[in-house]
Amino acid sequence: MQLINTKNELKDTLSVILSQSKTLGLVPTMGALHKGHLSLIEKAFNENDSLVVSIFVNPTQFNNKEDLEKYPKTLENDLSLITSVSDEIIVYTPSVEEIYAANVKAEVYNFEGLDRVMEGEFRDNHFNGVGTIVEELLTSIKPTKAYFGEKDFQQLQIIRKLVAIKNIPVEIIGCPIVREANDLAMSSRNERLPKELREKASFIYQTLLEAKNKFGTKSALDVIKWVENEFENNQNFKLEYFQISDSEDLKPVISKIKNKKYRAFIAVFADEIRLIDNIAL
Ligand code: PAJ
Repeated sequence: MQLINTKNELKDTLSVILSQSKTLGLVPTMGALHKGHLSLIEKAFNENDSLVVSIFVNPTQFNNKEDLEKYPKTLENDLSLITSVSDEIIVYTPSVEEIYAANVKAEVYNFEGLDRVMEGEFRDNHFNGVGTIVEELLTSIKPTKAYFGEKDFQQLQIIRKLVAIKNIPVEIIGCPIVREANDLAMSSRNERLPKELREKASFIYQTLLEAKNKFGTKSALDVIKWVENEFENNQNFKLEYFQISDSEDLKPVISKIKNKKYRAFIAVFADEIRLIDNIAL
């Protein structure tokens, strides 16, 4: 494994690599890696001649200072997980100064409304921060393909939009959600859940599955009401939002149209820990 901390070193390494390999993969992460991240890394490793995994806790995408400070940092463990896939992977771990110099600020993008719903509504400026770091990584590393998880489906669609509006020559690959044994979507935040609540959190995906079932015969509004009611009757979890949207533009469904693809999105608090999940309908 090759560990790189600076833009210059990265540039030098990539110029050697690109003279030898035809395809370069990129998996951007914020570290605290788990099996969800590893599924992206394995797929990207298998599909490209060379692979860069970036680990960077991006300050401009955090709307909450405490959340940023509390973000888990487990570099040693991350590196050994990456090496378990292959010791040929390049790991890029720049500092905040290296990426932003003295200007730790997000660019402002026009994501055509994709950023105003769901996570965007509850996390002010979050997607401008994500766009800023992803644009920087894509334009400096110039990968052939970049990999993102459907766990953050809204982020994935926004990155597709970013690439389109900025004309960045890269293929964006969406990867399926990896779940724990009880179907809770894997996340570094799950570690912070008390054991009992972590077990009970299977309720979130079970509710999504039932919602999917009901969406076959019922209206979006009826399904939303049903989900809201399920959470009102469950003391363990507090529903922040449940939304059924068009998979492409993420606009809430008013009435179903044949041949359109829909997805259900959910954000839930368990104690003070915020969990998100989604499902194709
Ligand atoms: P992070 O939360 O570290 O996630 C890195 C990538 O792993 C994202 O594409 C995310 O969707 C994917 N991922 C996380 N959990 C997953 C799971 N259970 N199954 C499948 N994929 C999963 O997302 C970010 O970092 C940042 O916003 C980033 C894109 C790196 C920009 O800073």
